[in-house]
Amino acid sequence: MSIEIEILNGDASWKLAEPLFDAVWPPHVVKASPWAGIVFANPDLRVLVQDTSGDVVCHGGVYQRAITCNGRRMRAGGIGGVLTRADTRRRGYATLALEAAIRTLKDEGSADFALLFCAPDKVPFYTARDWKRFDGEIYVEQPSGRIRFDAIAPYVHDIRRAPRQGAMDLCGLPW
Ligand SMILES: CC(C)(COP(=O)(O)OP(=O)(O)OC[C@H]1O[C@@H](n2cnc3c(N)ncnc32)[C@H](O)[C@@H]1OP(=O)(O)O)[C@@H](O)C(=O)NCCC(=O)NCCS
Repeated sequence: MSIEIEILNGDASWKLAEPLFDAVWPPHVVKASPWAGIVFANPDLRVLVQDTSGDVVCHGGVYQRAITCNGRRMRAGGIGGVLTRADTRRRGYATLALEAAIRTLKDEGSADFALLFCAPDKVPFYTARDWKRFDGEIYVEQPSGRIRFDAIAPYVHDIRRAPRQGAMDLCGLPW
């Protein structure tokens, strides 16, 4: 199947991505997930992999955020909402979307490192793609206030920096 990869404004492209989210993460799936009840940020950009009919078969959200890591200001390139429609998995689409997201962060010079959060069953997928565990504490904002975020584990893809431990404050909602 021939595909197209586009990188679009996050808010403007939500309608294109929404059917994929509804299919992969319907409310009952989210409710049973480790991140149930967490309020997440909306992505600044979206990587969309589309098939020839224009349907989005794979998505990756991209976030650009000034954070602090061990008290130092840094720029994190967040990646979240990586999902592929069930009938188009194991064709390399998520790998392509991740590569496009990282290339975008590098091209824009907007990130010292990339950061994502993943459930235990997806850890082998990311570690096989050069993502390294951040073995420290993550703090985020929620409507209830600032909390330690440990529902899902943080993984880093090094760009200019390679944070591995300590305390990171995302200075906003998680992704
Ligand atoms: C995790 C997820 C995004 C992966 O999407 P995907 O498009 O199937 O990912 P890829 O095709 O790039 O890679 C998946 C596997 O297929 C393999 N693969 C890629 N192309 C292939 C091909 N042509 N033939 C056979 N296998 C192939 C990859 O090597 C990879 O194997 P690995 O996990 O052993 O490394 C998808 O399973 C998903 O949407 N899951 C539900 C949502 C979710 O949990 N998202 C992650 C949140 S952290």
